[in-house]
Amino acid sequence: MASKALQKARDYLRQRLPELPTELLPVFHLTGGTGWINDPNGFSVYRGEYHLFYQYYPYDVRWGPMHWGHARTRDFLHWEPLPPALAPDMPYDRDGCFSGSAVETPDGRHLLMYTGVRNIGGPADCVQTQCIAWGDGLDYEKDPGNPVLDAAALPPGGSARDFRDPKIWREGDRYLAVVGNRPADGSGAILLYESPDALRWTYAGTLAECRNEYGKMWECPDYFSLDGTEVLLTSPQEMLADAPEFHNGGGTLCLLGHWDAAERRLVPEARQAIDYGFDFYATQTLQTPDGRRVMIAWMQSWETSAFRPKELPFCGQMCLPRELRVRNGRLCQTPVRELEALRRNAVFHRNVTLKAGTAQSLPGVRGRTLDLLVTLRAGDGQLRIDLAADSRRRTSLICPAGRDTLVLDRTDSGFPYDIPTVRSIPIGPSSGELSLRIVLDRWSLEVFVNGGAQAASSVLYTPQEAQEIRFSAEGADAVLDVEKYDIVL
Ligand code: FRU
Repeated sequence: MASKALQKARDYLRQRLPELPTELLPVFHLTGGTGWINDPNGFSVYRGEYHLFYQYYPYDVRWGPMHWGHARTRDFLHWEPLPPALAPDMPYDRDGCFSGSAVETPDGRHLLMYTGVRNIGGPADCVQTQCIAWGDGLDYEKDPGNPVLDAAALPPGGSARDFRDPKIWREGDRYLAVVGNRPADGSGAILLYESPDALRWTYAGTLAECRNEYGKMWECPDYFSLDGTEVLLTSPQEMLADAPEFHNGGGTLCLLGHWDAAERRLVPEARQAIDYGFDFYATQTLQTPDGRRVMIAWMQSWETSAFRPKELPFCGQMCLPRELRVRNGRLCQTPVRELEALRRNAVFHRNVTLKAGTAQSLPGVRGRTLDLLVTLRAGDGQLRIDLAADSRRRTSLICPAGRDTLVLDRTDSGFPYDIPTVRSIPIGPSSGELSLRIVLDRWSLEVFVNGGAQAASSVLYTPQEAQEIRFSAEGADAVLDVEKYDIVL
């Protein structure tokens, strides 16, 4: 039986969703349709379909008491909205059902593990505990034994106030989970827990510690093995910039290394940002039945979420799900291969020569919902691509001579606010070809560099009339191959 709060959210959406102006929504990126979303939650395979839940406040385009929204897909691109799965309706989660994850149990149930939040003073003074709900892919019942993991299972010095975002998985006949926590030094740590039944949890070690090096509290951890490497993904709050790898504020961090079985911790050997753009936070992954590790994230930043066109009924969207690999010690990401099945209206231009100092558009290469592949085959000067452009607006990718940086510049994209508009992405050095894969979907841009060695994401609030794409070279002529596909659902 749905509680009053859950039923209210379900009724509200049943009425609102059919009225939504679909021309204002992204075509293949998930939003809540109406209201606010942040982190992806419970990204999982259940009965052969992919489920995604998300932090959701249906009633307004700002953050509020967190529900879990819910959608289902078979290809990561056609999203079927489902009724919200959780509402804050119990004493232990009355101030929010915060982020968490999901797994299919051996007996065929869909198990959700999430953080219940209870404010005891104001919102800055709360208790966060881990809770369980069981369901069938549509309806979920909170476990009567909730919370199943609380401050009693914290290591010494761990904070009961910043203890959240469990990522659960199964290994053999037990469950494991990583949870974000703030240890005594005031920064972040990822704790490891194990359980025979997802109800009785034991602290099993501190997987990784921030030690005030990468921001403060580490949110939304995920941990898995990939291509012979142990990978920890997390989203640190309050980062200080460490250019060119990390920018200020809420960022993303990937630690790659090996597992130290004696110490029960990850020994990092390399670290990197996950995405170098403006809008990317709170990653979560699943493993597909054919063995791919697929990652999704919230394509928005906390700091700029208020700066959105007022006519949009939604705030926040998910990034395009991405296939992960570890290559040459780096986490690499490429759009899920399912995207290729939606390509239409192919346009190819081979060996296009760009004369230094002139800007040029190419026949058939324009639009705001597309998959665009650009290969720079020769040219020592600067290459510039203006996207979502018209006479006044553009969002640009600029690759200066030297090829060790790619600049993402949204200064002229139409934001009437003083927000960060330039990111420099370290991509090199590279002497050979430069390949860029650019995915646009109405209100966003995602770029994947050199087979996914770097990725950068940005929301774009440029009016939809700005459809042009222009190429230019500076300092020397350039030779390009360009391949463009519209993406049509
Ligand atoms: C990250 C986060 C999580 C928390 C959730 C609340 O964006 O702060 O740590 O669970 O959002 O909505």
